[in-house]
Amino acid sequence: MTRLNLAILISGRGSNMEAILEAAQDPAYPAKPVLVLSNRPDAKGLETARAAGIATAAIDHKTYGKDREAFERVVHEQLTEAGVEIIALAGFMRVLTPWFVNKWQGRMVNIHPSLLPKYKGLDTHQRALDAGDTEAGCTVHWVSPGVDDGEIIQQASLPILPGDTADSLAARLLPVEHQLYPEALSKACADIQTRA
Ligand code: GRF
Repeated sequence: MTRLNLAILISGRGSNMEAILEAAQDPAYPAKPVLVLSNRPDAKGLETARAAGIATAAIDHKTYGKDREAFERVVHEQLTEAGVEIIALAGFMRVLTPWFVNKWQGRMVNIHPSLLPKYKGLDTHQRALDAGDTEAGCTVHWVSPGVDDGEIIQQASLPILPGDTADSLAARLLPVEHQLYPEALSKACADIQTRA
């Protein structure tokens, strides 16, 4: 089995990244992490990745002002140089332009903390609570030019409990995300290999 070279893009804590790195320690896991890249040089996840022996890159989007594509051209260059074959967005807080998304179409996945198609964008848990939903969850999906809009790969849900707040829900959902993401990423790799 050939393992696909994986880049994980983060902006902060990187706990989903960590879950993927752990899963990928198994030589039978279908993706091999070759790069962790952050748009924020101070992202805590960069330290975690370095400690795990993974190459890291920090490309500060602020350097490029409003020119999103200029930032993305540098990201794209780094990914290409590292021989990346699949990208996992894991708490990466930059909206990507159609230019970048089209370059990686069918090779980039994201985790979103809602049961898509519900609650695209931010404040997903508060919106689920405000709507009186009885369950919340997370979704791993292919990235398409629309925000949180691509084809769903896999979802996991959990019940909303009386007294839940956006914070308590986010905290209970996090371990569910950590279980889901490596599994769904593995499916995505299988899909790419089938297409090849
Ligand atoms: C997760 O809740 C993820 O669903 C969302 O951002 C958060 C990232 O957390 N997209 P972490 O950086 O993986 O710890």
